[in-house]
Amino acid sequence: MAELLVLDGIRKSYNVGSPVETEILHGIDLVMKAGEFVALMGPSGCGKSTLLNIIGLLDRPTSGRLFIDGNDTTSLDEAALTRLRGHSIGFVFQYHHLISAFTARENVVMPMLVDRGRPDAAMEERADELLDQVDLVKWRDTRAMNMSGGQQQRIAVARALAMNPLLVLADEPTGNLDTASAQGVFGLMRRFNLERGTTFLIVTHNHDLAAQCDRVIELVDGRLTGDRRNPAINGVAQPG
Ligand SMILES: Nc1ncnc2c1ncn2[C@@H]1O[C@H](COP(=O)(O)OP(=O)(O)OP(=O)(O)O)[C@@H](O)[C@H]1O
Ligand SMILES: [Mg+2]
Repeated sequence: MAELLVLDGIRKSYNVGSPVETEILHGIDLVMKAGEFVALMGPSGCGKSTLLNIIGLLDRPTSGRLFIDGNDTTSLDEAALTRLRGHSIGFVFQYHHLISAFTARENVVMPMLVDRGRPDAAMEERADELLDQVDLVKWRDTRAMNMSGGQQQRIAVARALAMNPLLVLADEPTGNLDTASAQGVFGLMRRFNLERGTTFLIVTHNHDLAAQCDRVIELVDGRLTGDRRNPAINGVAQPG
C-alpha cells in the first residue's frame, strides 16, 4: 500500500528565540499507509494536538519534513498549503466546531462552498448523501444548535468527509460523548474507512475505542514511545 503520510524528524518548539523557548515535539518519525485506521494515545500535554495540527497543515514544524501523498509540504507556500489542506484533509474536533445557527446540511456544504465559491445543487446532493450515511438526513434542515452532542458530532464527521479527503484527523472526537454516542461516532468513522479507504488518525484517551483501530501509536513527552498493530477485527485484513 502507498505511503500516505511520512514524518521525518518533526520537531516543534514554541516561543522560538525567546528565553522561554520550549521544544514540545522532539523528532517524530512516522509512516502511515493509505487506508490505515490509527489511534494516537498519550497523556495530557504530551503534544498530540500539536502533532495533529502539524500533520493537518494548520501549523508548521520548527524542523523536519512532512510528506502528504508524496508532496513535500516543507517547501510549499501558504496558498499551496491551504489548497492541499482543503482537498486532502478533513478534521473532526472534540468540540464539533459546527456553525450552530446553520442547519446540518449547510454545515456539510460549507467545505465545498469554501472550495468552489458559490453554492450549487450538486453540493446539496452530496451533503444529503453524507447526512444519509450518518443517519441524519431527516434532520438536514435542523439547526446544529438544536441537535444533541452525538448528532452534532455525526454532522462533523459528515462535514469532514465532504471533500472526499485522503486523510481525516480527529482530535478527541468522542471526548464529550456518552459511551453509546461515542461508539456510534467511532463506528461511522470506521465505516467510512472500510468503504472508501479513507485514512484516519484519531486522538483518543479511550482504550476500548483504540482497541478497534488497526494500529495504536503512543506519544509521551513529545516522543513516540509505542506503535503496535491490533489483531484483525471482524476479519478486516491488517495493512502492512
Ligand atoms: N501556542 C502555544 N504556545 C506555547 N505552548 C503551547 C502552545 N500550544 C501548546 N503548547 C504546549 O505544548 C504542550 C503540548 O500541548 P498539546 O495541546 O499538543 O497536548 P495534548 O497531548 O493534545 O494534550 P491534551 O490531551 O490535554 O489535549 C503543552 O505543554 C502546551 O502547554
Ligand atoms: Mg489535545
